[in-house]
Amino acid sequence: MPEISSPVLWHGGDYNPDQWLDRPDILEQDLLLMQKAHVNCVSVGIFSWSLLEPEEGVFNFAWLDSVIDRLYAHGISVCLATPSGARPAWMAEKYPEVMRTDAQFVRRRFGGRHNHCLTSPVYREKVKRIDGRLAERYGKHPAVKLWHIGNEFGGYCYCDLCKKAFQEWLKEKYTTLDELNRRWWGAFWSHRYSRWEQIDPPSPLGETSNPSMQLDYARFMTAQCASFIREEREAIRPFSSLPVTVNMMWDFADYDYHTLAKEVDVISWDAYPYFTGASNLKTLAEACMNHDFMRSLKDAPFLMIESSPSKVNWHPVNHLKRPGMHLTSSLLAVFSGSDSVMYFQWRKGRGGSEAFHGAVMDHSGRDDTRVFRDVTEVGDALIRLSDLKAQPLEKAKVLIVSDTENRWACLNVQTGYQGKMDPILEAHRHHQALMQLGVRCDVKDMSEDTRLEDYDLVICPQLFMYREHFDKRLESYVRNGGCVFQTCFSGIVDGDDLAYLGTAPHGTAQVFGIRDPELDALYPEETITLRLATGESIPAMEICEYPEDVTADTVLGVYETDFCQSLPCFTLNHYGAGLAFYLAARVDTEALKTVYERIFRDVPVERTVDFPLPKDVVALSRGASTLIANLGAGTRLIKMTSPASDRLSGALLNESFALESGRCVVIARKQNG
Ligand code: GAL
Repeated sequence: MPEISSPVLWHGGDYNPDQWLDRPDILEQDLLLMQKAHVNCVSVGIFSWSLLEPEEGVFNFAWLDSVIDRLYAHGISVCLATPSGARPAWMAEKYPEVMRTDAQFVRRRFGGRHNHCLTSPVYREKVKRIDGRLAERYGKHPAVKLWHIGNEFGGYCYCDLCKKAFQEWLKEKYTTLDELNRRWWGAFWSHRYSRWEQIDPPSPLGETSNPSMQLDYARFMTAQCASFIREEREAIRPFSSLPVTVNMMWDFADYDYHTLAKEVDVISWDAYPYFTGASNLKTLAEACMNHDFMRSLKDAPFLMIESSPSKVNWHPVNHLKRPGMHLTSSLLAVFSGSDSVMYFQWRKGRGGSEAFHGAVMDHSGRDDTRVFRDVTEVGDALIRLSDLKAQPLEKAKVLIVSDTENRWACLNVQTGYQGKMDPILEAHRHHQALMQLGVRCDVKDMSEDTRLEDYDLVICPQLFMYREHFDKRLESYVRNGGCVFQTCFSGIVDGDDLAYLGTAPHGTAQVFGIRDPELDALYPEETITLRLATGESIPAMEICEYPEDVTADTVLGVYETDFCQSLPCFTLNHYGAGLAFYLAARVDTEALKTVYERIFRDVPVERTVDFPLPKDVVALSRGASTLIANLGAGTRLIKMTSPASDRLSGALLNESFALESGRCVVIARKQNG
């Protein structure tokens, strides 16, 4: 698989010189300012199609030649984009089929971006042609290091081309309509199909009440996106063997990223946490779970290819990062495995909907701004920490299973606490608890590629759907000495989203020593508490289960209120050579910290640092260094076991030192053992 050839961590971002071609003075200034801010890589041409091909078949590359040559002359590398994220007006006018059709079966008009049909043969043809031209011209340019395919692939189309392709995809999958009707549970509400042509994409005008069908449409749309990316890559390949990437997004559920990951060489993503004036722990822990997920997609470093140097313009409240937070949030990405800190965007445009989105260069055109200083500080830090790039990433020993297909099933399920069934929310609570306890995790899906045996502890937060023989793999993992921690609403449906018959959780009831739990949903004002054997009481929230029968050998907690009084809710079962923990109630992050401290008594896991982390303080290690960051609203006292020096400032840190809100330090990593 092609890899990025760069000895340094990248610092840079989206650069849109095509908006400034009438201002050569600005283009000239950009290069000098980039050097000043230690920018060494930029993404170019993401939305340039109307300039590259102003009329069908008429190409204009002169401006891009000059941009890339001049970046190269200034020592700046290029991620060159294919322009498929937004198409020119002439194409929408001449070939309406390229435009996306919404779930009401209405075709969209020209405008916006990311609103084309990924099935349309015309669109695919036009994209391949421009991609081939770009690759032929720039594929061997020494500045170009990476292909940035399209932009933030997302959304579904419901046009007739997609409908036909969906029917073909279903035929391929099910072979016969009988099989489809059986696995879609077609007898319900008389929803059997007698001809393939009767099957429409799921739409509010027709069918939205068949979860198995909705699951298949999500799979089909993922397959269309994957084949679209593949065709773009294949258009490039005759001319360039450079790696390709697509920029992915935060907790994104339109497509299954595990499938898309197979089509690219390098994983990259766009990180836009919601900063607040108070504690930023939750938002940055959520960003870090996404970082961990991206790293885990290929067990390799990834790129944070977009982030904001200050604020965005599309959050409900567009809060500025407070002092220190730009460096801290950027280094959290790097210590999670990112080989870059890149921004949207280098320079604010004068118009368009993003004219007031944060950028390195503001409309003032000045470099004596807070943002420019913050960005330069990050550039400087990346140079100081460049040794991280050369050191191999270590594998985590704890795995959180987070699976997009399970997510789709949970988002469609009609039970429990409506609006609160997204399992990613549960996964985040676990990740956040573990992060505060200094435990590093991988985040992977249920597919056969995920080797449970690589981990000391496997966490299964709300795995409603067991697919790909997950029950058997989990059973064998525990029997052979693995440790698992599963939470409520797991092991209930199969990969077709059909309820398993027989004892639940399917295939693992004996492993956990619990049987057929009954699911309850709690009103916000309702309080059911759990009493742990260690003496603490913790509140349940949203959903909880009351097991019909518990044979687990150790009860670690019982319900202490309501009709479920004294019923086990937190259990440990010794199964084969392994351990199986089960938590029957959903609890918040604080409570999960208590739960994990109990689990770690039996399952020793490595912590990032050998001293307790104060509230809201996190620590991440990469290579020979450890980042300590205060994400809380106030100053925190860090009490280490020995003095250390800060690799960022060069200052000597006493054994106890005060770390201000939003600030971070980087120290030498503790030696284990
Ligand atoms: C990203 C997108 C960029 C820009 C940015 C603004 O999602 O890829 O083009 O729109 O958001 O935050």
